[in-house]
Amino acid sequence: MKITKICCIGAGYVGGPTMAVIAQKCPHIQVTVVDLNTERIAAWNDENTDNIPIYEPGLDKIVAEARGRNLFFSTEVDKAIDEAEIIFISVNTPTKTYGKGKGQAADLKYIELCARQIARVAKHDKIVVEKSTLPVRTAEAIKSILDNTGNGVQFQILSNPEFLAEGTAVEDLLSPDRILIGGNTTEEGQKAIQALVDVYSNWVSPEKILTTNVWSSELSKLTANAFLAQRISSINAMSELCEKTGADVNEVARAIGMDSRIGPKFLKASVGFGGSCFQKDILNLVYIAKSYGLNEVADYWEQVIIMNDYQKLRFSNNIVKTLYNTVADKKIAFLGWAFKKDTNDTRESAAIYVADELINEQAKIAVYDPKVSERKVLADLDYLETRTAEKNAKNVTSFNNAYDACEGAHAIAILTEWDEFADYDWQKIYDGMQKPAFIFDGRNILNKGKLEKIGFVYQAIGS
Ligand code: NAD
Ligand code: UDX
Repeated sequence: MKITKICCIGAGYVGGPTMAVIAQKCPHIQVTVVDLNTERIAAWNDENTDNIPIYEPGLDKIVAEARGRNLFFSTEVDKAIDEAEIIFISVNTPTKTYGKGKGQAADLKYIELCARQIARVAKHDKIVVEKSTLPVRTAEAIKSILDNTGNGVQFQILSNPEFLAEGTAVEDLLSPDRILIGGNTTEEGQKAIQALVDVYSNWVSPEKILTTNVWSSELSKLTANAFLAQRISSINAMSELCEKTGADVNEVARAIGMDSRIGPKFLKASVGFGGSCFQKDILNLVYIAKSYGLNEVADYWEQVIIMNDYQKLRFSNNIVKTLYNTVADKKIAFLGWAFKKDTNDTRESAAIYVADELINEQAKIAVYDPKVSERKVLADLDYLETRTAEKNAKNVTSFNNAYDACEGAHAIAILTEWDEFADYDWQKIYDGMQKPAFIFDGRNILNKGKLEKIGFVYQAIGS
């Protein structure tokens, strides 16, 4: 099957960058990304690519190259569905906040709406691709909706989970470790798989394109995220033991990482992992395991989340304890709010939870993040519903540079590992702070020796 038109429903952190790269690498295919969110689509269409809604290094250039040529952003969902041979579903699948499975299961209402819309609009046979991260066996539900339209249109459903990490999305999309495509074992299923393989083959070498059955593909995505998050919780668990015993977690990580069976990546102790995926996907895995009665399996993975919550709380508790058991009316400067460097995404960022705890202790939080606005910081705190929006606004202020945020502060907390933090004039920052001047480095990125020489009281994670 020759593919000439692709549609992607959902112009978010996955849909936007993924489709931009497909369009760049496949100039012969017209790629249309649609979304209900008119503001987001308008931002994707902004003439100045500095204003596209997602900050990812290198993305602006790719959008500038392909947009208007064979990459389009639109709110006309029906039209794009009707025209395309392949439809990617890349909408959000957050943790349910109501009803059965509240707080654990994935909320699939947006997925179902897409399936129903495709069923209603499609007049020709289509390949529907699950790009969103979904519970294993979701394809069954999508198929059941699509197969009951009564209009004779044939659908093939593929699972093609996305493994990009934010902050390195473009790099990850251009040279992926692998592309995973799950499909039906029937002849039509295999033809659909081949059509998608052909799209990726425009820039990904064949040995990196893995094809499986649908269920393996769906479950591999949850498994990959669970394994990655589990490594962080494992090293974070060791970080507390290091602090008690005089071991240094960076040295321990290096020593174990040189074992080729363990490997060096994803062993950075931190204030805790954030992001829209790890927690949501593990909770979903826990829910699925429980729904099959696999309680030991569920408990095993839930511990990864318990450890992560504990690590965030341990960080804020330590700030309070070190500042003589009170932070009331003290200014604590937060360097970083995003859940990792090189992204403007703050979903589930550790900074939100640490700030929430410190505001409970009546601290005044001064935030500086190179890519996050005050509006976003306050919205993140308001979303927790711990206190009124007025109270949050009274306790939190954002600054557009780190020096102003740190002026007069009792302590600095490093929440995100932005590169620029290491290069600051730390003497200047020290001179403007209350003494003793404390630094709590939640990312282990600053030079302890240099800071202690200036006069800071410096505390890292795991040493
Ligand atoms: P997102 O919230 O940034 O984007 C989703 C978009 O879908 C939103 O703009 C929303 O308006 C739109 N949408 C929802 N329902 C719609 C509908 N019926 N019609 C049209 N548009 C609709 O989410 P995201 O971060 O891009 O994640 C999307 C999926 O990809 C999730 O399942 C997530 O788990 C998965 N994923 C995310 C990442 C990541 O790094 N963010 C990585 C891999 C996989
Ligand atoms: C993750 C997966 O890596 C990616 O494959 C999947 O598609 C989406 O979820 P993402 O959440 O964007 O990607 O970023 P990631 O680099 O995995 O970082 C997640 C969190 O873990 C961040 O808060 C990061 O700071 C933290 N982290 C990561 C650590 O604390 N230590 C580490 O060693 C690595």
